[in-house]
Amino acid sequence: MELALNLDSTIATPLHRQLYEQIHSRILSGQLSRGQRLPASRTLAHSLQVSRATVTLSYDQLISEGYLETRPGAGTFVAAQLPETLLQVVAPAPQENTPHLPINLSYYGQRIAQASPWENQPAAQYSFRYGHPSLALFPLHLWKKLVNQEMTANSHWMDYSTDPQGYGPLRDAIAQYLTRSRAVNCQPEQIVMTHGTQQALQLVTQLFINPEEAIALENPGYLGAQRIFRSHAAQLQPVPVDDDGIIVEALTNLSPIPKLVYVTPSHQFPTGALLSLARRLQLLDWAQRSGSLIIEDDYDGEYRYSSRPIPALQGLRRNAPVIYLGTFAKVMFPGLHLGYVVVPQNLVQTFAQARWLSDRHCSLLDQAVLTRFITEGHLERHLRRMRICYDRRRQALVNALQANFGEAVDILGDSAGLHLVARLNLRLFDEDIIHRAAQVGVYVSSLQVHNLQPCQGDFILGYTEVNETQIATGIQRWATALQMQ
Ligand SMILES: Cc1ncc(COP(=O)(O)O)c(C=O)c1O
Repeated sequence: MELALNLDSTIATPLHRQLYEQIHSRILSGQLSRGQRLPASRTLAHSLQVSRATVTLSYDQLISEGYLETRPGAGTFVAAQLPETLLQVVAPAPQENTPHLPINLSYYGQRIAQASPWENQPAAQYSFRYGHPSLALFPLHLWKKLVNQEMTANSHWMDYSTDPQGYGPLRDAIAQYLTRSRAVNCQPEQIVMTHGTQQALQLVTQLFINPEEAIALENPGYLGAQRIFRSHAAQLQPVPVDDDGIIVEALTNLSPIPKLVYVTPSHQFPTGALLSLARRLQLLDWAQRSGSLIIEDDYDGEYRYSSRPIPALQGLRRNAPVIYLGTFAKVMFPGLHLGYVVVPQNLVQTFAQARWLSDRHCSLLDQAVLTRFITEGHLERHLRRMRICYDRRRQALVNALQANFGEAVDILGDSAGLHLVARLNLRLFDEDIIHRAAQVGVYVSSLQVHNLQPCQGDFILGYTEVNETQIATGIQRWATALQMQ
């Protein structure tokens, strides 16, 4: 049978995901009926002009979710018994004459509607997913005790907060912590608490960017930031990075001069490069000359294993044109969903107003508990423990990669953060490499989605959720699946 599918290699969503979504939605809408046969993977790959691995990957996903089934010797079919949850939501196939609801999205709404949904990294036996700290090693008993104490101390936390910038004692604690450990230059009144970096980036973009105005950003760079900038119709100006971080000379050639430049100097996301001191000074000079504002995203700067944490760009000069963003997602746990912006003095009121308009304020109870966690010394104690643990895991990962991949792997990035990049020199597509890993219970992800240009062979490997034994076994399985040995 012919399937009219349409894949677009110019968008960020991987081809296998697009294929998965299109088949999935045809099953949901009834366009593909139960028991119907699908084309063989080779045939479909040929007609769509994609690799066979792309098709197999999406078929396998649909099989594992119960939408498709294979019959030995006969092929792949829409499952006769569709998953129960699906049956409850089966929508009738749209009729030609079904009237559409009069939805008239704003330009912003239209841009959001066109973007592909955020993809979660799936669970696996050996998961090298990135961006997550070890939840198992967080001192949960202590957190529970503090929650209990704060809940019973008074009931202020039940009401609206009167301060959209955030709980005063927490801002005091963060200002002291940032001055001490990140050499950030700030007073508590410059801090605005947010629901993580994502909300901070949303506020910054809303406040500074009109449609078509330019934002320079590292390439490859953080997809979460790219998506926010795009949703505001900003003109993205990708700037290359090398072993010393963003190449500042490339900024000087940009036209128009970008209003904002988004950087991750402590640990470039995703390559892991540390922005050298010379480049930091060069970047500050350039921003001062050109009137641009630097957005410094210090998402995991606390984790350095070979030297002391490097001071933030924001603190290098008095009144540096820098907005500093921090998050507790990596040093605590992502579900806490707290972060902050350090705002230049003259912009504090505007940020506070925007923060209130966005969703008033962060949970007062969470902020009060976090204050205790910081002021009683638990945060820095937890960080010291985690640095030792992640350093060992990182080393185990480097050793395992070198032992199993030998000359075929290069490891990028400084000895820092919660992930590294493995550059594999194999004659295989990234999707195939990921697929073969998945077949042996290993999850790895390609750097592709963070790159504005096509690229192959770079994999982001997180090492926080796997212990040294799991790292050794997982990498060995992956290498075997790739026939490295
Ligand atoms: C570069 C970068 N910034 C920020 C974040 C996360 O920020 P948050 O969870 O606070 O929105 C991530 C998450 O992985 C990241 O990679």
